[in-house]
Amino acid sequence: MATPASVLPVEQFISEVDALLVRARAAFDSAHTNEDLESARIEFLGAKNGLLKGVQKQLGLLAVANKPAGGQNLNRAKAGIQAAFDEAQNRLAGDSGRGKRDPQFDPTLPGTPVRLGRLHPITQTIEELSDIMGRLGFTPAHGPEIEDEFHNFQALNIPEIHPARDPLDNFYLQVAGRQASGPRVLLRSQTSTVQIRVMENTPPPIRIISLGRVYRPDTADTTHYPMFHQMEGLLVDRHVSMAHLKTVLQLFASSYLGKSVPVRIRPSFFPFTEPSVEADYFWNDKWVEFGGAGMVDPSVFSAVGYDPEQWSGFAFGLGVERLCMIRHGITDIRDLFTNDVRFLRQF
Ligand code: FA5
Repeated sequence: MATPASVLPVEQFISEVDALLVRARAAFDSAHTNEDLESARIEFLGAKNGLLKGVQKQLGLLAVANKPAGGQNLNRAKAGIQAAFDEAQNRLAGDSGRGKRDPQFDPTLPGTPVRLGRLHPITQTIEELSDIMGRLGFTPAHGPEIEDEFHNFQALNIPEIHPARDPLDNFYLQVAGRQASGPRVLLRSQTSTVQIRVMENTPPPIRIISLGRVYRPDTADTTHYPMFHQMEGLLVDRHVSMAHLKTVLQLFASSYLGKSVPVRIRPSFFPFTEPSVEADYFWNDKWVEFGGAGMVDPSVFSAVGYDPEQWSGFAFGLGVERLCMIRHGITDIRDLFTNDVRFLRQF
């Protein structure tokens, strides 16, 4: 039986559909702007007069027996055209935030460098000091910044009437509900508190350092700040002597400042060490004080339940800001805390 004039051969339908898919893909792929893409979308996917719609209408012209094959082919082409459109849309959105390609954009030019943040010089110093002391076998220990009088004073052999407890020299805190005669709390004025906390909880031998903030109502000037950092060291063992203390200070100085840096110790006084010394390093033609040190006083061992006849030890407390300043040639401690990025970027 002859094919009626109104019946479209399925081969012709399929080849028209395939040709449409090829053209649509080419149009979407070559769209450089959102405007290009939109006009291609209207041409191929437009709801009223789009070419896909036109081809779809021809499906009705196929013989009934060919409609399933023609329909399948049409659906495959539809999905392909839609995918090509989606891909072009994503590409243009990714090319520039506004979906528009900047004609001036030159991808061969070097990019704008991203300015990376960095650690604060004090944090860098703390990390380096921990590293050096770690190599000497000292492990880090921590204590609270809000302390009680027992750990900040009493256990450190600083009696009730000692001037170091004066409210003018410490930041005592008001605690709701505290009785006037009850124990007071304060922002710790030295990291020596951590010595006590560690010894209370650990049997000897001990070899620790503690790096952290301390607080004193000192007027800020070039070398003083009301909040600063200390590095406390504590070594407890049998038959420990001043020679061990001086060796550790010397090894520390050589590692941090350089091999040729001489160390000097001078007699001093701290209630919790006997004998006590101040440690100085020779730097830039002058002696610079770094901190206090000494042999742990037997009364401190008694306060934490160690037998002073059996155990001996040394302790030291160094100012971290002073160490950082000398190393980097910083002449005013306040620069470390004003958070001026022009200063901080140098480290
Ligand atoms: C002490 O704080 C003792 N706890 C150190 C110690 C530990 C002695 C263990 C014996 C055994 P001193 O008050 O000297 O000591 O402080 C130690 C260091 O902290 C000083 O040498 C100085 O480097 C630094 N320092 C003191 N006050 C300030 C401040 N206001 N600003 C910055 N650094 C400071």
